[in-house]
Amino acid sequence: MSAPRATWRRAYGAIALALLVAGCSGRQAALNPAADQAALINDLWTLMLWVCGFMYVLVLAFLGNALWRARRVLTAEPLSHGAESPAEAPLRRVLTGWFGLILGGLIVLSLGSFLIDRSLANARRDAALKIKITAAQWWWKVEYEGATPDQRIATANELRLPVGRPAMLELQAEDVIHSFWIPNLGGKQDLIPGRINSLLLTPRRVGEYRGQCAEFCGLQHAKMALDATVVSGQDFSAWRAQQLAPAPAPSTPEQVRGHEIFMSGPCATCHQIVGTPAAGQTGPDLTHVASRRSIAAGARPYSFDALRDWLRDPHTIKPGNHMPQVQLSDADLNALTSYLDSLK
Ligand code: CUA
Repeated sequence: MSAPRATWRRAYGAIALALLVAGCSGRQAALNPAADQAALINDLWTLMLWVCGFMYVLVLAFLGNALWRARRVLTAEPLSHGAESPAEAPLRRVLTGWFGLILGGLIVLSLGSFLIDRSLANARRDAALKIKITAAQWWWKVEYEGATPDQRIATANELRLPVGRPAMLELQAEDVIHSFWIPNLGGKQDLIPGRINSLLLTPRRVGEYRGQCAEFCGLQHAKMALDATVVSGQDFSAWRAQQLAPAPAPSTPEQVRGHEIFMSGPCATCHQIVGTPAAGQTGPDLTHVASRRSIAAGARPYSFDALRDWLRDPHTIKPGNHMPQVQLSDADLNALTSYLDSLK
């Protein structure tokens, strides 16, 4: 083998290993569980890996052995008709052993699957936080129920959960079938138009995670992410209070101009900003848009510049999305971005 080829092969190996290991940790990884449900699924996965891995190694060992022996059989004298091969008696024992092993493996897998399923179904759901999640092309509407209508919170593309408290998600879709999946927290659940599905998550570890739509739902399926943040109960209460507050009034002349553009232009037809006349329901609620980790369902990390780029030309960042392009001068674009950036 030539030297450059060997180097390439080593590089490919290193990249493959890095990708493999990267899949086991991080903020979008089923093998790095941060909730009861994800931990149970991870346990079942580990059991399946060991049982299937063990069987796979055994099959390969027997295959290798058979190939090795076949070389000798081919060169041996043919047996006379009706005579039993000297290898047949041990072969029968081996096959009986195999049968027992396969049966045992299947019993272990079925039992493991049954017990994990039962634990998932029996998980504690008293005093669960109720959250309604509606999927649409290509974003997530997230609504927290409150004791009274004025205690209700609407946000978009972000899910914040208090650690240790079960959260009961009510999942539905507006247009096509989507699939809700935050690998670190739990399994997948489809969102189907005209139907309500539910999913229980009980976070156990504070941190930032990432969810991703897991069912092809059109052109921007890949850019349909969800920022999930698990915080302490105290931080959750503080966040809730902040989200319940109406949007702050514009405080600089530029923000005032941006507010005017928003209210008089097409923006207010599709988006809601609580505390202003804007009450559109077609697009994401923007009351506290500047407090989010990303824009456009995870398409870009949140920043002033990212927001301005998005407002200038949403179809370069996310081709085919349903936000119309609004023609604005540079000054108006800056004013609009300044106003939205003040909505913390
Ligand atoms: Cu929504 Cu894929």
